[in-house]
Amino acid sequence: MAGLAVNIDHIATLRQARGTRYPDPVAAAMIAEMAGADGIVAHLREDRRHIQDRDIRLLRQVVQTRLILEMGVTPEMVGIALDVKPEVVTLVPEKREELTTEGGLDLIVHREKVSEAIENLRSAGILVSVFIDPDVEQIKVAHRVNADMVEIHTGAFCDEVSPSKREKAFADIVNAAKVASKLRLGVNAGHGICYNSIKEFAGLKEIDEFSIGHSIVSRASMVGMEKAVREMRTLISAL
Ligand code: PXP
Repeated sequence: MAGLAVNIDHIATLRQARGTRYPDPVAAAMIAEMAGADGIVAHLREDRRHIQDRDIRLLRQVVQTRLILEMGVTPEMVGIALDVKPEVVTLVPEKREELTTEGGLDLIVHREKVSEAIENLRSAGILVSVFIDPDVEQIKVAHRVNADMVEIHTGAFCDEVSPSKREKAFADIVNAAKVASKLRLGVNAGHGICYNSIKEFAGLKEIDEFSIGHSIVSRASMVGMEKAVREMRTLISAL
C-alpha cells in the first residue's frame, strides 16, 4: 500500500497572509499524523513565503512519522538540513518568482551541485529524494548521483485537460516509475494531485508514496484537517 506524505505549506501560507500566529502548520502536522499520514512534508523556501525556520525546528521535535524537508539545492539549505536532520530531504528547483515548484529539477544541468548535496546529506544519514520530471534520462542520472529515491512530478498530468495529452502524460509517469523501480530507487509522486486524480493511479504499484498538499489543505478549510487527510488516506489505500 502506498504511503501518504502530507505537505502542510499552505497552512503556513494562510498564517503568513495576515502575519498572525495561526493557523499553525505544526498543529496541522500533528492532526495529519493522527489521521493516518505516513510523513509530513514542509518546503522551506529561500524567501520564507510560507514555512519559517521556526516551523522546521518545531516539526523536527514533534513529527513522529517522518519529516520530509523540501528544499532548493543551496549551501544555506544544505546547512539547515544537516543541522535539523529530517529523515528525508527532497531536492527541488526553486525560483523566487514562481507560484509553486514549476517543473522538476534538471539533474543533467545541475548534476555537479546535486551530486555534492546528495553526498553531504547522505553522509549525515539523511535519505535524499530528487523531484524530477517523468523523463527516463533524469531517472538514470538520479541513479548515477546516488539519490535514494525520486519524486516524479505529476503536475503535467494533473493539470492537463486534453484527454489525449493527459493519456500521454500518464504514460510518461508509468514509464518513469517502472524504470526507477527497476533501478531500485524509491519512487514517490507528487504535485497537483487531488481527490479525483489520485484515483487514476490505481494499479501503479511502483509508487511507494504520494506527496500531497494543496488539495488536502483546501479540503481541510471546509471539512477539517483530520477528515481531509483521512479521506485521502482511504483513497490511496484503495488504489
Ligand atoms: N512535491 C513537491 C516536490 C512539491 O514542490 C509540491 C508542492 O509544494 C508537492 C509535492 C505538493 O504539491 P501540491 O501542493 O500540488 O499537492
